[in-house]
Amino acid sequence: MDDLKARYLTQIAEAEDESALEAIRIAAVGKKGEVALRMRELGKMTPEERQAAGPALNALKDEINSALAARKAALADAALDERLRAEWLDVTLPARGRRQGTIHPISQVTEEVTAIFADMGFAVAEGPQIESDWYNFDALNIPGHHPARAEMDTFYTHRAEGDDRPPHVLRTHTSPVQIRAMQDQGAPIRVIAPGRVYRADYDMTHTPMFHQVEGMAIDRDISMANLKWVLEEFVKAFFEVDDVELRFRASHFPFTEPSAEVDIRCSWESGTLKVGEGDDWLEILGSGMMHPKVLEAGNIDPAEWQGFAFGMGIDRIAMLKYGIPDLRAFFDSDLRWLRHYGFAALDVPTLRGGLSR
Ligand code: PHE
Repeated sequence: MDDLKARYLTQIAEAEDESALEAIRIAAVGKKGEVALRMRELGKMTPEERQAAGPALNALKDEINSALAARKAALADAALDERLRAEWLDVTLPARGRRQGTIHPISQVTEEVTAIFADMGFAVAEGPQIESDWYNFDALNIPGHHPARAEMDTFYTHRAEGDDRPPHVLRTHTSPVQIRAMQDQGAPIRVIAPGRVYRADYDMTHTPMFHQVEGMAIDRDISMANLKWVLEEFVKAFFEVDDVELRFRASHFPFTEPSAEVDIRCSWESGTLKVGEGDDWLEILGSGMMHPKVLEAGNIDPAEWQGFAFGMGIDRIAMLKYGIPDLRAFFDSDLRWLRHYGFAALDVPTLRGGLSR
């Protein structure tokens, strides 16, 4: 019995965790444990032997049980100590500076654009960045063989072998949101759709991901005159100048007819851009009257409704307004750049409070 006791007490003292303790408990004092086995042997003993062995076995059982309980409590204490040590926190550390992060110029300019168009009654619409090729191309009157598909340097997703459906694309422009917004809301409608777009292109003025804002207004008597007025109002508000001159250059897009690219009058004096004066012209967007087939793809009857649409590069107008020379820096996440060009979190652009401060 001394043997038994010494063996189990040692095991208990050396147990590393609760499950080890439990295994010892079962082996020692469990229903089929060693102490129970010995108790069963009492029946074969003489009454004298039994009188000595019975109480001794009971005492042994008690002793093992209390050793188990003590070891369990000690393990729990150690675990708590360890946790307190790990979760220790020095509350005397100095707090962080207040202006840790800044609003990215793209976010700021998107807010500015949204505020200006909201004032003219345009709501914001959204669509997925991974788009079906129908929404990105076909619905916009760009059928499968159309050269515009090749020109756009499209990123395609992968289809499983043997799956003949056309692959999805990373949308190459925000124009698919025209179709989705028409389908969702019908006519009349006035929306802008800012967001990310993708093309396989990379240099000073191109990054594979960039941002556009789409604009679309559909009603019973919309004309190019409305388009021109809306864009002039936008450019005046955005560049914060009273007078601007826009130049509409005949162009071609499959989804508009007629189509126009729009330039603004500007000057470059010693590398700084001034909008509204000078002898230079700067292209800022593509636009036109929505093609009847596009209205139809959006379930809107072209015999009853007309609309204009435009698409503008957000990154581009951000570069122009804030004098940022290299587009690629927008997406480098260089902290020094972000601190320099970023906006304070509370500088929310509004038409009343000023767009940029
Ligand atoms: N989707 C065109 C582009 O990405 C821009 C555009 C939009 C032109 C709407 C006309 C009308 O170049």
